Amino acid sequence: MSNKTIGLDGALYDYYCSVAFREADILKELRAETTKLGGPSAMQIGPEQGAFMAMLVKLMGARHILEIGTFTGYSALAMALAGDVQIIAADVSKEWTDVARRFWSKAGVASRVDLRLAPGTETIAALLKDKSGHFDLMFIDADKSSYDTYYEGGLKLLRSGGLMLIDNVLWDGKLVDPTVNDEDSSALRALNAKIVADTRVEICMVPICDGLSMVRKK
Ligand SMILES: C[S@@+](CC[C@H](N)C(=O)[O-])C[C@H]1O[C@@H](n2cnc3c(N)ncnc32)[C@H](O)[C@@H]1O
Repeated sequence: MSNKTIGLDGALYDYYCSVAFREADILKELRAETTKLGGPSAMQIGPEQGAFMAMLVKLMGARHILEIGTFTGYSALAMALAGDVQIIAADVSKEWTDVARRFWSKAGVASRVDLRLAPGTETIAALLKDKSGHFDLMFIDADKSSYDTYYEGGLKLLRSGGLMLIDNVLWDGKLVDPTVNDEDSSALRALNAKIVADTRVEICMVPICDGLSMVRKK
């Protein structure tokens, strides 16, 4: 998996990053810390995506955010720094979210991020008991085989006009290779096809980083 915007390579990517957004020092520090993890660091969203999501939080005036897939906390921190938001963040890894907690504390946003250490499907099921229509924005960036469950649950949890952001929808180009039929790729292909035909929502897929679908609940 690549966390760099598809089609922007080498010097062009460096130039883009130098003029396309401003990254807060604490976010730079978190990226540097995450890089020390080696291979898993590729799971972190790119800084351009963090800036894009922060811009959306500001434009929407979002207050209530749900994130499924937190890792070391970059996306949640980018959104938390963007406005007066309350975030429920779901992940299964204590090790990785311990890094997230440390950085949220350092950035002064820890009291606004409610981390749920449980499978995303369980967190969504719990929220469906009393938080239907509550969220302005949802970010899905966890296990791909559960994306459809997150999508259907998320449509109930979002308010009308709320925005769902779905990550990795271009999946490193694998979705156009007919010989690639592993569970994750098949799940992403099926969900992309489902959403573009889903009259409950409006869709605009943005080719930033590994592909990010913007799905607006009607
Ligand atoms: C791509 S990373 C998330 C990156 C993060 N959004 C960021 O900005 O750095 C995916 C995360 O999903 C988590 N995850 C995997 N399976 C999960 C599940 N069933 N429920 C919740 N989180 C899960 C992993 O532990 C990992 O931290």
